[in-house]
Amino acid sequence: MSVLFPKWSNAFPTIFAIAALGGVTTAVGGFWYYATPKFWRVGYMPTQPGGGFNHQIHAGKLGMDCRYCHTKVEKSYEANIPNVATCFGCHADGKLNKLAEGTETYSPSHKTKTQFVRDAYAQDASIPWRRVHKVPDYVHNFPHHVHVAAGVSCYSCHGRIDTMPIVHHAEPMSMSWCLDCHRAPEKVLVPVDKVTDLRWVQDDLTERANAGVITPAAQKVLDAIQKAPPENCGACHY
Ligand code: HEC
Ligand code: HEC
Ligand code: HEC
Ligand code: HEC
Ligand code: HEC
Repeated sequence: MSVLFPKWSNAFPTIFAIAALGGVTTAVGGFWYYATPKFWRVGYMPTQPGGGFNHQIHAGKLGMDCRYCHTKVEKSYEANIPNVATCFGCHADGKLNKLAEGTETYSPSHKTKTQFVRDAYAQDASIPWRRVHKVPDYVHNFPHHVHVAAGVSCYSCHGRIDTMPIVHHAEPMSMSWCLDCHRAPEKVLVPVDKVTDLRWVQDDLTERANAGVITPAAQKVLDAIQKAPPENCGACHY
């Protein structure tokens, strides 16, 4: 026990007692609240059900476009999670082995790993994916369609999803993070037909950052944007 709980931990009850008495709670609470998005949310990676879903395989290696599954991302506020039928289209019984043959990670265990897809489909149930990104309720619906149409890539907000075996939180998604980009969108805008080509976007943005100038191609994208991104409270809060 003494190894698990070092001596100084004996002070815990005292610290909590003092905190409970007054101001300290607010100070600690305040620190906790403001520290959370930056230092705790980045990297958040919940365990997904069944065999999980691997973006590195599907979006990376197999080269599937994000919109094959997140079909509504250009049209609505929400970027939808695909239903089981989308997965079943490739993972129906017998089909998988055919698809995976010849790929270097092919193994008989694929059948086991994807069984949860066929089980859910047979039961007409949905897979209970655990949500990774979520803005608080006091923030308006986040408009995916507006950002995507303006040439903001998934890369700028979600990182290199196509290299992630398990999705994790790549950016803090705090208010200052939203505003930093709204004040200087010229750093991240790309041609609209490139928003889901994350590797291309990463290379382009890195090159632009290194050059320290706006390239003619980027200037064209900038000129096409009509509205300045909002900074007034009402645009994002009720
Ligand atoms: C074959 C279908 C498919 C493709 C293609 C796909 N995704 Fe996904 N995506 C999913 C599924 C299923 C989930 C939910 C499970 C999870 O979070 O891993 C998900 C989750 C996500 C999440 C996290 C959602 C949350 O809970 O916050 C992001 C972000 C995301 N995808 C972005 C992308 C991007 C960007 C691309 C293109 C590079 C892409 N996806 C391609 C199926 C797909
Ligand atoms: C366009 C066809 C296609 C769709 C749609 C698709 N997959 Fe796959 N999936 C594959 C192929 C092909 C492989 C094997 C890839 C390999 O061997 O590298 C695979 C592999 C897998 C694996 C095994 C991963 C591993 O670690 O070996 C799981 C689990 C999986 N898919 C789940 C899903 C889920 C869940 C969905 C729906 C959100 C889905 N797939 C949609 C083609 C697809
Ligand atoms: C400007 C930043 C930004 C861009 C660009 C962006 N997203 Fe998101 N994404 C977010 C935020 C913020 C959330 C959380 C939204 C919420 O809580 O309503 C989110 C949530 C998601 C989710 C989870 C939705 C759910 O219902 O579980 C998926 C999937 C997703 N994004 C996919 C994408 C894809 C694919 C792209 C590119 C085509 C993309 N996003 C571009 C910021 C962005
Ligand atoms: C990487 C850059 C970037 C980030 C990060 C970003 N935005 Fe934006 N946002 C933009 C751009 C560019 C526009 C202007 C789009 C237009 O009007 O054409 C915009 C526009 C908007 C609008 C106006 C929509 C409309 O209907 O005119 C809202 C609301 C918004 N963003 C909310 C958010 C919120 C909330 C976050 C953080 C969770 C966020 N944005 C993060 C780039 C970004
Ligand atoms: C571009 C969108 C956007 C605009 C504009 C915006 N906010 Fe926020 N705000 C957010 C987001 C997103 C969060 C949630 C951050 C998080 O999850 O940590 C937030 C959180 C907050 C919080 C909670 C504390 C915090 O900082 O996390 C307060 C208070 C707040 N906003 C006030 C304001 C006021 C006042 C204005 C106008 C000056 C404003 N906001 C403008 C997006 C915005």
